[in-house]
Amino acid sequence: MNPESSISQVETALKPCYQSAGFYDLLNRQKDYAAEVAYLSSRIEKHKKSEGNRLLDVACGTGQHIYFLQTSMKCEGLDIDSEFLDICSDKLPGMKFHLGDMTNFQLADKFDVVTCLFSSIGYVKTVDLLDSTIKNMADHINPGGLLIIEPWYTPATFKPGHSTVIVEETDEYKIVRMNLWLQKEMVAQGHSHILVMNNAGIQHIQELHELALFTNEEYAASMRAAGLEVVEVDENGPIGRGLFVGRKIA
Ligand SMILES: C[S@@+](CC[C@H](N)C(=O)[O-])C[C@H]1O[C@@H](n2cnc3c(N)ncnc32)[C@H](O)[C@@H]1O
Repeated sequence: MNPESSISQVETALKPCYQSAGFYDLLNRQKDYAAEVAYLSSRIEKHKKSEGNRLLDVACGTGQHIYFLQTSMKCEGLDIDSEFLDICSDKLPGMKFHLGDMTNFQLADKFDVVTCLFSSIGYVKTVDLLDSTIKNMADHINPGGLLIIEPWYTPATFKPGHSTVIVEETDEYKIVRMNLWLQKEMVAQGHSHILVMNNAGIQHIQELHELALFTNEEYAASMRAAGLEVVEVDENGPIGRGLFVGRKIA
């Protein structure tokens, strides 16, 4: 870990859900974070009315969005998984990262933009937790600042039985990930099997990812209840999963 980076720590109620954090960037190599950030920046430019340029990326993963956002915003990240934050610190020396749970983190500072991207919001799993999480994020935003949520699928757009297979290779590893998405009531369950092979052997990682299928109305209602004006509901967003932009009422 880079000694110049700082990771502050708070109590977390939920548990990390990834055992494959070290392979996240490899498994998401097909994602075009630079293009996504160009898209997000255009939404920030259009809607932000606060003066400052401080951004907090909640559920920041390996810091890929803030890697590109840092050219225009003063960024910090927060995630529930310390392994992800170690990767962020190596990638972005000197940047502030916070170990915390999006449902209840408390930071002393306020931000002009808070983002929660790539469907991470779905991990909160219940409408009550969606409400309190969005309220918590909104409480960290300056008046006129933005909350940008890239949602998970809705009950109308989720397709149970959807599956993906990713195969990647580096000089050191060959890796295969099979994901099968099933539905249990209003929660999507992603059954993930990952095989990682190097010349020492083959490791089998199994993960269960549970993400709530909130409706667009539930996202928008949570934002309004948290003191945000919903200034944009984009059905597509950067990768086709949609985008909600809320602005903190001054
Ligand atoms: C799909 S990844 C997205 C990571 C990153 N935003 C990206 O776009 O690559 C989901 C992230 O949400 C984080 N996460 C899940 N539940 C969380 C919680 N309750 N609080 C904070 N982070 C959480 C995971 O650790 C993981 O980094």
